[in-house]
Parts: sequence; structure tokens; C-alpha cells
Amino acid sequence: MTRTLTLLLALAGFFSTAQAQDAQAAQRGSTKVQMCIGCHGIVGYQADFPQVYKVPKIAGQDARYIVSALTAYRSGDRKFPTMRSIAASLSDQDIADIAAYYSTLGKPDGPVPAALETPVPDKIRNAVTTCVACHGVNFSTPTDGTIPRLAGQYPDYLAAALKSYKVENNPHYGRANAVMGAMAKPLNDETIGEIAGYLASLPGELRTVPQPKFK
Ligand code: HEC
Ligand code: HEC
Repeated sequence: MTRTLTLLLALAGFFSTAQAQDAQAAQRGSTKVQMCIGCHGIVGYQADFPQVYKVPKIAGQDARYIVSALTAYRSGDRKFPTMRSIAASLSDQDIADIAAYYSTLGKPDGPVPAALETPVPDKIRNAVTTCVACHGVNFSTPTDGTIPRLAGQYPDYLAAALKSYKVENNPHYGRANAVMGAMAKPLNDETIGEIAGYLASLPGELRTVPQPKFK
């Protein structure tokens, strides 16, 4: 009994230390996002290269996914000129702090719907059955922190992201992730558009949180 209690207390201590560290990282991150908010802090802001689509919502993504995406822009596994030069200016510590910050920014108070409330349109039912295995049944509960939440993301961004996994041998555009390459390649543009529209219509945790440029 005493041993169990000691163990529980030790675990509680461990978790609160981990939480305190996350909070400290998020606090440091809040001082490092000045150069992000001009794009990611403006609702509906559009990127204009190589195509016009909205700058993705990143508040509410898991910190591990944000780290993974920024690292991929930095290494060139994800090709996108502005994000590449921005990520290149960040150290691993900066990336970890910024990821901790955005993962908690604008977090909804209540739980998101656990099950799929919006029925999958017949036309894309077959195409999306495999997706839920990783992205979660409501597209907001991925099975691993490095897999993105998709529910409620901007539809034009989702479509552009899916298409970019199909691109090969282009020096300026495309994403190297092999798993998503295999998923996206069989999809034609029409199906991609329908999937993107459906995913964007789902309730989710992703947000664009407007922020003042100078605190
Ligand atoms: C000039 C506008 C601009 C600025 C400034 C900018 N971003 Fe981005 N960001 C984009 C665009 C556009 C994309 C989508 C790129 C693509 O299609 O891969 C993106 C993608 C991302 C992604 C991937 C999102 C996802 O769902 O995969 C992350 C994470 C990210 N940015 C974080 C940041 C952070 C952190 C900063 C500041 C250090 C920043 N960005 C600054 C425009 C910008
Ligand atoms: C085996 C796991 C797995 C399956 C199955 C899967 N995905 Fe993914 N998905 C991922 C991972 C991992 C990433 C992040 C890849 C990266 O780093 O670029 C991703 C990224 C994405 C993105 C980019 C999101 C963003 O914010 O940039 C979209 C869109 C997407 N997946 C849609 C789908 C769709 C639609 C399906 C079904 C046709 C699907 N995925 C099936 C694991 C999976």
C-alpha cells in the first residue's frame, strides 16, 4: 500500500514536472513567433506561390506534428520556399518551443465530437476509409502525434497539400513523405477537391488565432 502510494506520488510529480516544462516551452515559444503571425495569425490569409491557397491553421495541431513539419521544411523534404527559409533560421530548441506554443494556442474548452457526426458523402466513402486508420475517425484524433489533425482545416490548403504529395522531381514544390505519397497518388484532382471540402466541413480543434504584432 505504502509502496503504491509512493509510486503514485512519484508519478504525479513526474507528470506535473513534464507539464511545467511544456508550459515553460510554450512561454518561450510565445516570444519567438513574431515572424509567423504575419501569415499564420491572419484569418484567411493567402499564400500566392506556387498556387493561391490559404495559409494553414496551425494552432491546435499536436506539438510533435508541428516539429515534424518544420523539420521537413528545413531539410527540404517539404519544399516550399518561404517556409523553408523561415525554418532554416530556427534551431531545434526554437522549433520545440514554437511547437509547444502553437499546440496550446486557442485550445477549445470543451471536447471535440469524438465520433463522426457528418456522414461521409457516398462519392468519397471508399477513398477515405483508409485515412481514418491514421487520422482518426473524426479526423481530429490521429493515432500518433506526428500525424496531423485535418478536421476544420482550410479546404484549399488541404487540396494543395494532397496534390503536393503527388509531385515528384520538382525543385520548388512537393512533399517527400512516402506514406502520404502512396495515399495521394491514386486520387484525381476531383476526388481530392471533394475530400478536402468534406474534411474542412468537420468540427475540429484547428484555429487561426489573430494576434497583435507587437505585444
Ligand atoms: C509568408 C507567410 C508565412 C510565414 C511568415 C510563415 N508561414 Fe508557415 N506556412 C505558410 C504557408 C503558405 C504554408 C503551407 C506551405 C505548404 O503548402 O507546404 C505554411 C506551413 C506551415 C506549417 C505546416 C502546417 C501543416 O499543416 O502542415 C507549419 C507548422 C508552419 N507553417 C509554421 C510556421 C511558423 C512556426 C512560422 C514562424 C516561425 C511560420 N510558419 C511563418 C506561410 C507562412
Ligand atoms: C499510414 C498513416 C496515414 C494514412 C493511412 C493517411 N495519412 Fe495523411 N498523413 C499521415 C502523415 C504521417 C502525414 C504527415 C506527412 C508529412 O509530414 O508531410 C499526413 C499528412 C496528411 C495531409 C497534410 C495535412 C497538412 O496539414 O499538411 C493530408 C491532407 C492528409 N494526410 C490526408 C490524408 C487522406 C485524405 C488520407 C486517405 C486517403 C490519408 N491522409 C491517409 C499519415 C497517414
